[in-house]
Amino acid sequence: MSLVLLENPSEYVTLLRLNRPEALNALNCALKKKLADIFTELAEDSKVRVVVITGNEKSFAAGADIKEMYNVDMVLKKLHLLWKPIMEFPKPLIAAVNGYALGGGCELAMHSDIIIAGESAKFGQPEVKLGIIPGAGGTQRLTRTVGKFKAMKFLLTGNFISSKEAFEMGLVSEIVPDNMVLSQAIELAKKIAKKPPLAVMQIKEAVLYGQDIPIERALIIERKSFQLLFSSKDQKEGLSAFLEKRKPIFRGE
Ligand code: CAA
Repeated sequence: MSLVLLENPSEYVTLLRLNRPEALNALNCALKKKLADIFTELAEDSKVRVVVITGNEKSFAAGADIKEMYNVDMVLKKLHLLWKPIMEFPKPLIAAVNGYALGGGCELAMHSDIIIAGESAKFGQPEVKLGIIPGAGGTQRLTRTVGKFKAMKFLLTGNFISSKEAFEMGLVSEIVPDNMVLSQAIELAKKIAKKPPLAVMQIKEAVLYGQDIPIERALIIERKSFQLLFSSKDQKEGLSAFLEKRKPIFRGE
């Protein structure tokens, strides 16, 4: 059985389902390698403009595979390299989260750009209970997302974070009833897929690379992206369509 299932629910939208239900979608090395390969391919594919990543009703992903981790030599395996294609994925990535998003699963969700969560979803970084710490950005991304004092509480106790708490802290973009998580994420993906892809990618780049540097330099990134888009055909199309009172057709050129 394939560890990852790919579908095309709509033009330019790819749906990626994690598929290790027997282990609550725990991220073993094979699944991480598969994800790295798929994200590398999706980045190159011009038929893909937005990706939705999801798990199943019970679990988005329950973390790194603990059984496998018991025997892995973390230094030699260089598993952090497998996160790179997801971290550097240039197109919008929407996480549709039902059930558990724990440890590496929470970190995977935090690699996305928008998180749609079900009412009973549970987030958390429970690594401390295992005698380790988050290893895929949890101490950094959670802190930068929700602030030191909230992050510390969850990182140091390993307590789960309810959907409601996650939303209130800014870790989740939107909460919907559990049975609407995927449809809502796909609707959002369809909407974004209709926008000019070059502008969409520049927004993602400006937000991600600008958020952790001084604002003066971040504004230079924004200005350069803004100026760059004036040499795109989509910019001409967007402005012309507005002036001609018609719908634009964006080609990503
Ligand atoms: N790794 C490997 N297998 C896992 C797993 C994980 N992270 N999480 C769940 N499973 C497996 C269980 O072992 C079980 O398999 P078996 O039936 O073969 O024993 C199956 O999935 C179902 O799990 P449970 O019976 O435990 O289901 P539950 O509903 O009683 O509990 C749970 C669900 C609370 C999520 C519990 O499974 C749990 O606590 N899982 C571990 C969560 C965790 O600690 N994640 C962090 C991992 S470390 C990490 O992620 C490091 C990093 O930063 C990269």
